[in-house]
Amino acid sequence: MDHIKTVFSGLQPTGNVHLGNYLGALRNWVKLQDDYRAIYCVVDLHAMTIDYDPADYVRERHEAARVLLACGIDPKRSLFYFQSEVPQHVELSWILATLTPMGVLNRMTQFKDKTERGGTANLGLFAYPVLMAADIMVHHAQLVPVGDDQRQHLEVTRDLAERFNNRYGDLFPVPEALIPETSARVMALTDPTAKMSKSDPNMRSRVLLLDPPDVVRRKIRAAVTDSEPTVRHDWGDKPGVSNLLEIMSGATLRPIPDLVDDYGDGGYGRFKDAVAEAVDEMLHPIRAAYAELDEIDVAAVMRDGAETAKASAEGFQRQARAAVGLANR
Ligand code: TRP
Repeated sequence: MDHIKTVFSGLQPTGNVHLGNYLGALRNWVKLQDDYRAIYCVVDLHAMTIDYDPADYVRERHEAARVLLACGIDPKRSLFYFQSEVPQHVELSWILATLTPMGVLNRMTQFKDKTERGGTANLGLFAYPVLMAADIMVHHAQLVPVGDDQRQHLEVTRDLAERFNNRYGDLFPVPEALIPETSARVMALTDPTAKMSKSDPNMRSRVLLLDPPDVVRRKIRAAVTDSEPTVRHDWGDKPGVSNLLEIMSGATLRPIPDLVDDYGDGGYGRFKDAVAEAVDEMLHPIRAAYAELDEIDVAAVMRDGAETAKASAEGFQRQARAAVGLANR
């Protein structure tokens, strides 16, 4: 059992899960369950660092859990729970905060981006990467499947694991990022130079996993392209078309050159219809699984997950407490 590595990742529960989340991360999470001790967490404490509505939050947290289950996170094979229900995350995050130089956090581009876009610079947002490090370290995870945008945060985790080990003795593995080979980057349909994002106010910028077929089709048909109607992959000159090729390749698992062979000269209308159909085919089983899931079952899965996660985290956390001198004589 000891040779099986532990994988940990987290998803924020605000905003609906979209195609970029799925192709960039979630699909990979599902696959990793086959070969690793997988732990997945709805990171509801992280999502509180930006403006959110507490009245909606109960539903949003639940929905996020349900969508992940529909995508194939299997509670029989992985540990799946809400971050806030396992208090060891926050406790470890405090210990790590005492090891974190302000300068390290001052360099975080995501903090700068979020505050420049009008968010308040609250302490929680500033300390976000420290809590993320605690999420990973509280389970002694070695591998962290994340999108490219989380590289900098993962560097902080690695740094904090090393600082802890140097200061208090070797306790934590120094985790590594696991960036998926396929389709790690899906761009906005309305602006293919920006990442597809939950926070884009324009709903046409992204396909949600639970969008009905006609909505999927409409959004993809309206995707921004260009006026030179050949289908080829060229991020510089044809970002919109390249993005659609990436999406279709992600959905069909066919290599991009094959798709270019098939659709190169057939016009954008035909190509977009094919992309929409491929995406719809991929989403169909997710929508069906979502519809099958019952609210009470989802709640029970999350309750059991939290219990198991708490027991596992507490085992490790006892060692961390002892290492830093938080133990009774
Ligand atoms: N910061 C991650 C994101 O926005 C979410 C996250 C929180 C996470 N804790 C984590 C990802 C731990 C991986 C591991 O996508």
